[in-house]
Amino acid sequence: MTEEPSETDPQAAIDSVAGNRDDRVYEYSAGDEQEGIPFVGAGPGNPRLLTVAGRELLADADLVVHAGSLVNSELLEEYCEDAETVSSIGKDLEELIPLMRDAYEDGDTVVRLHSGDPAIYGAALEQMDALEHEGVPTYIVPGVTSAFAASATMRTQLTLNEVANHVAFTRPQGKTLDEDEDHISEFVGMGDVTTCIYLGTHAVSETMDRLLEDGHDPETPVAAIYHASWPDEDVIEGTIATIGEKLEDAGYRASAMVVIGDAVGGEDYERSFLYGDWANRGSSDETQEADD
Ligand SMILES: C[S@@+](CC[C@H](N)C(=O)[O-])C[C@H]1O[C@@H](n2cnc3c(N)ncnc32)[C@H](O)[C@@H]1O
Repeated sequence: MTEEPSETDPQAAIDSVAGNRDDRVYEYSAGDEQEGIPFVGAGPGNPRLLTVAGRELLADADLVVHAGSLVNSELLEEYCEDAETVSSIGKDLEELIPLMRDAYEDGDTVVRLHSGDPAIYGAALEQMDALEHEGVPTYIVPGVTSAFAASATMRTQLTLNEVANHVAFTRPQGKTLDEDEDHISEFVGMGDVTTCIYLGTHAVSETMDRLLEDGHDPETPVAAIYHASWPDEDVIEGTIATIGEKLEDAGYRASAMVVIGDAVGGEDYERSFLYGDWANRGSSDETQEADD
């Protein structure tokens, strides 16, 4: 008698992971080919910003389940014209998991395509755990996250010597994040952090108002990069005091990366140690690290 496939139970899948470190962690590296369904980062939009590994996997795919509007349709047309493509928008895990599981078990090559990098606000792990729980192996193929596309567009670095020593990837309070979990003001208050706000385009004015209420310098630079790397990319630059109105005038309510901090301007930084005298001090461990 063949066993009926179990009903998808995402919470049971998450609970089953506890305390069980997966041996594959030590067997494979990022970029290795593995058995199962790859969770591929599509990059920020421009098809050329997909990794080579991602492109190869898409070329072989029979079914591509993609993240809807933030995965550029050009990329789907260019790299997976032979595959069935399904948007994950509006589908819950109870629908998505059986869709991918059944196709995989029928012998199809399945790719799950996330925007940017799956590790950033992608909710990839809960899908992977649910699939694994039902006997389908999975793995991650990284991609270029939108903050990196935004910094490239802005021709700057997110870390910049003597300007920004740290980067925060964050999101603002809202329906799914409580007020006390919103740390944007704390990151901005640290002074040497570049704060990259995902999922916050619709709430830029409110976010900036909170920063002003908290006493942050109204002149702090802020850039909002709409659709970074897409043909309709738009760069809106301002300050904590001005960016909200500018973005409202432009009419963008979604799909922008909001970057706060002095690194936005790419100026007033100090020459780094890396290509100075310090670089010739010998090959200490510290020097090796600095090469990265
Ligand atoms: C659900 S998150 C997914 C992030 C994605 N995993 C990544 O690594 O970029 C969606 C948010 O990412 C940002 N985003 C994604 N693609 C973008 C792009 N091409 N340009 C600007 N922001 C983008 C926006 O802030 C958007 O609200």
